[in-house]
Amino acid sequence: MLVLGIESSCDETGVALYHTERGLLAHALHSQVAMHAEYGGVVPELASRDHIRRVLPLTRQILKEADCTLGDIDAIAYTQGPGLAGALLVGASVAASLGFALGVPTLGVHHLEGHLLAPLLEPTPPAFPFVALLVSGGHSQLMKVSAVGTYETLGETLDDAAGEAFDKTAKLLGLGYPGGPALSRLAERGVPGRFRLPRPMLNSGDLNFSFSGLKTAVLTLAGQQARDEQTVADICRAFQDAIVEVLATKSLAAMSQTGLSRLVVAGGVGANRQLREKLSALAARRGFEVYYPKLEFCTDNGAMIAFAGAMRLGQASQGEWKFNIRPRWDLGACRT
Ligand code: KG4
Ligand code: ZN
Repeated sequence: MLVLGIESSCDETGVALYHTERGLLAHALHSQVAMHAEYGGVVPELASRDHIRRVLPLTRQILKEADCTLGDIDAIAYTQGPGLAGALLVGASVAASLGFALGVPTLGVHHLEGHLLAPLLEPTPPAFPFVALLVSGGHSQLMKVSAVGTYETLGETLDDAAGEAFDKTAKLLGLGYPGGPALSRLAERGVPGRFRLPRPMLNSGDLNFSFSGLKTAVLTLAGQQARDEQTVADICRAFQDAIVEVLATKSLAAMSQTGLSRLVVAGGVGANRQLREKLSALAARRGFEVYYPKLEFCTDNGAMIAFAGAMRLGQASQGEWKFNIRPRWDLGACRT
């Protein structure tokens, strides 16, 4: 079965073709970063309009790359939520229209389920059950994943998501949008230990996070320092050290609490090199396995949506092409 996946929840248009026997055949992505950069963040209306412009040309491109035609598609999966309403509507309506035209079923996929299952696209995927550290721009949570559709939230952020904390901190340091990758690049040049920032909720005794205080601490620290390049890099390092320590410590606690031996890291912040190094070192020392998606499948992409759709083909609509979007949608409520 050949599944077309469409991702349009925020500022990236992603499409992919996943075949249930042959694996990922092709994928393509258009990032809107350059368009939103001059506004310092995502402008929802511009995002929706750009998705409209990109989705069909990108779909034609991957069909060509995979040497397939529209007629080869057996089902269409699209991101149903969470995300920006207008942006989601583009993917959902294109999926429904194409599905109707081709006479193939469609199904809405939870964006975070896409992130969560992305490591299963790798050549040596983790077996179920596993613990997932899901750290993106909008969400930070630790989940117990027993099977596709069987997710238990172990802990989550009480305020900002990890990626949001990266982005907001980068903005207040004048690093522009999107700030996470820029901040992490600067942090690599920062001197560890020159500054020390708080580790919020490190010893809270549960698996929840809180990151909003960290950006306030950075604001205070930055206000007391000269803004030379090295000092900014050192502040970035202190911020990254704090966030990585909290995420790693809580992940470790989740491993002990569940007694599981596999950890999956997913979502945009999962692309962070320091976080990956720290978790890999801990895994080697504590004797558990850690799995990451390819860097390009950590951040938003169509491949994870096509794959999650392929895992849920049994739920695809048959003979009707109604669609709805769910801009707010709890992953725990998303069952098979
Ligand atoms: O998963 P994603 O593409 O979108 C959401 O579903 O939110 O994650 C985007 C987030 C942004 O906040 C971005 O700053 C962050 O992931 N991010 C990073 C890195 N690459 C992307 N944060 C830290 N280090 C990185 N290397
Ligand atoms: Zn995402």
